[in-house]
Amino acid sequence: MEAGTPGGISVQDEAVDKSNFKKCNQIAFYRRQKLLRPGKSLYRVLLDSVTLSDENVKFQIIHEGNKVLLQVEIYEIEGNIFRLKIDEASPLRPRYKVPDVLIKEPTTQRLLISHKEAGILVLSSVNEDYKLRVTANPFQVELQSKGETVMSVNSNGLLYFEHLQPPPSDRYSICLSHPRIYWCAVAENKEKQEDLGLWQEKFGSFLDIKAHGPTSVGMDFSLHGYDHVYGIPQHTETLLLKNTSDGDAYRLYNLDIFGHKIHEKIGIYGSVPLLLAHKPNRTSGIFWLNSSETLVDISTKTAKQRAVPLTDVRWMSESGIIDVFLLMGPTAFDIFKQFAQLTGTQALPPLFSLGYHQCRWNYEDEQDVKAVDAGFDAHDIPYDVIWLDIEHTDGKRYFTWDKKKFQNPRKMQEHLRKRKRKLVVIVDPHIKVDPSYILYAQAKEKGYFVKDRNGQDFEGICWPGSSCYPDFTNPDVRKWYADQFAFKTYKGSTNILFVWNDMNEPSVFKGAELTMQKDAVHYNNWEHREVHNLYGFYQQMATAEGLIRRSSGKERPFVLTRSFFAGSQKYGAVWTGDNTAEWSYLKISIPMLLTINMAGISFCGADVGGFIGDPEPELLVRWYQAGAYQPFFRGHSNMESKRREPWLFGEKNTQIIRKAITERYVLLPYLYTLFYRAHTAIPVFQRGGTVIPLKTSAGKSTEWMIDISYELHVALDAEACAIGELYVDDGHSFQYLHKKQFLYRKFTFHKNILSSR
Ligand code: GLC
Repeated sequence: MEAGTPGGISVQDEAVDKSNFKKCNQIAFYRRQKLLRPGKSLYRVLLDSVTLSDENVKFQIIHEGNKVLLQVEIYEIEGNIFRLKIDEASPLRPRYKVPDVLIKEPTTQRLLISHKEAGILVLSSVNEDYKLRVTANPFQVELQSKGETVMSVNSNGLLYFEHLQPPPSDRYSICLSHPRIYWCAVAENKEKQEDLGLWQEKFGSFLDIKAHGPTSVGMDFSLHGYDHVYGIPQHTETLLLKNTSDGDAYRLYNLDIFGHKIHEKIGIYGSVPLLLAHKPNRTSGIFWLNSSETLVDISTKTAKQRAVPLTDVRWMSESGIIDVFLLMGPTAFDIFKQFAQLTGTQALPPLFSLGYHQCRWNYEDEQDVKAVDAGFDAHDIPYDVIWLDIEHTDGKRYFTWDKKKFQNPRKMQEHLRKRKRKLVVIVDPHIKVDPSYILYAQAKEKGYFVKDRNGQDFEGICWPGSSCYPDFTNPDVRKWYADQFAFKTYKGSTNILFVWNDMNEPSVFKGAELTMQKDAVHYNNWEHREVHNLYGFYQQMATAEGLIRRSSGKERPFVLTRSFFAGSQKYGAVWTGDNTAEWSYLKISIPMLLTINMAGISFCGADVGGFIGDPEPELLVRWYQAGAYQPFFRGHSNMESKRREPWLFGEKNTQIIRKAITERYVLLPYLYTLFYRAHTAIPVFQRGGTVIPLKTSAGKSTEWMIDISYELHVALDAEACAIGELYVDDGHSFQYLHKKQFLYRKFTFHKNILSSR
């Protein structure tokens, strides 16, 4: 099969066809939830059910229409975080609760009941700084800090919870007893029952059969005094989130959209359900821990429209429970710390991975790799890593090599090693259906693939043609997958080889929205709809674990992933996917990266030059200049685009690119120090009055720079003072963690004297 035409489809043609992807109004649970309009909530607190323990406050709420009971739990978590969990009081079967994203069960603090009468319950934090005022009828929660209302929950009455029901024997009677249908009646909606997509939903030729029926949840939050909200990557949108009008909600649903357009709210590749709100004296955050498809509506009234600005945010998810963390800041830095406390900090990258990466779909063969590598030296341009895309494998069977093009991969890596460079190879999640391919045969035998709704291995089409998909949600599958990276198992790999996980939304050509059917079945019988946004997160987790294990726990991994979720920062880097070689994509890459950063993933970048198409030389040069200051710095291009190694655009452009990359290398001590800070605490912003550590010059790669001396750039503030810091270790191992082998110096410039400690 020809590359680029999997399953006979031209990827390029496929990609531009927008009808492959749903608009919001084609999503059944969204349509159902939108029937519920802002107004008085029908949920009422049963005040007699309130119980208080060291851990939380619990009570039940009842829906006045269908009389269904929900259990509410409120927790205060150390460090100004509140958690609100809402689940059915007695569900027919357990509902999905996202595992593995929180680094541990958060440490709770005892709340106090400071008032309980006249339909009001007031809970106070131990230090009395925060109060939660729960109104019984209708159910609402107001979060106050020292008397100031910061956030209110369900004040627009949009709490929505579809309880589990037995499959309909008589569709009509079930529909009438369904809570959603109650709303239909209230809203006097004319929509036909079958259009509500309760037990099945059609999209084009695809039929999603919902074994457990409608399971959607939703809730609204009002952010008082805020008219600036950010976060919820990944969209090709501005930093400041926009108001959504009916039908254009921000979508969090990981999708492979080749040739995606800019300024669209459809989800691409990765999702982090964290929204940040900022006003002059306070930053707050809402972390909606749900891995099913999620839509977010935003409505801001600015100071021009209302005495005190207000932003209403409505979250709607297809499944799971409501599990939401309210991060109270109060500073932006506190929010980043609170999110890291829940989901982990950025993994400390090996130093080489902060250097420049040269990628292309594809570097053809060993000779090509060597020639490109030599080209960097010949043109005196530093770089650290050369990358191999899917064509390096034997017929897109990952963990193998094309025997004609890569006859001796170890020798090629030894060549690169001598030149102090590294290799990254692609390892996609799909596994070619081929009984003679060991990975396929093993996974098949062990039952490690995701199943379809009939219990057979789910088969979809991806680069190799017919493929199956390992079920990374199963810990045994992750262990098995991690084991594939052992040197003795992964033939031809050495310790300078690192990994790139792509297509892990997962991408399924010819699948519904080019991804996996939602009714596919995972470990413990969970439907794909519950775990969709976690698939890439788990693949990267297993890959990083494999790279750590192959070095017996000594070396730090480097894994780049395209798909991600909250917490992916613990496993490596992400990039923004298939951008286009146009100026507008260079521009949008900046807010896109900042948004990913704000959501806890510091190590991110966009393909320098633009993946699709051919950049004009000035665009390429400008992209290098921008990329040199972004955390992950990789040039990459599609197989149909012309070669674009940095020296192919005339001496003048080569010189400018050389300068940009060299500046990056000189700056590495500063970047590495920032990563150490992000690893121990997440994002750092540069201000006036700083001391920045630099190298006095660049080398051919980071390893060539070990002996180059450091210099400090001191930029004084108005008081003629400056502070800064430097972090140094061996650049690749875990010795900094286990043996504390590192140097971490703080510098102070004061009264004309520079001191360090
Ligand atoms: C996807 C990736 C791209 C890669 C290509 C082939 O389009 O986003 O970076 O080069 O697949 O593997």
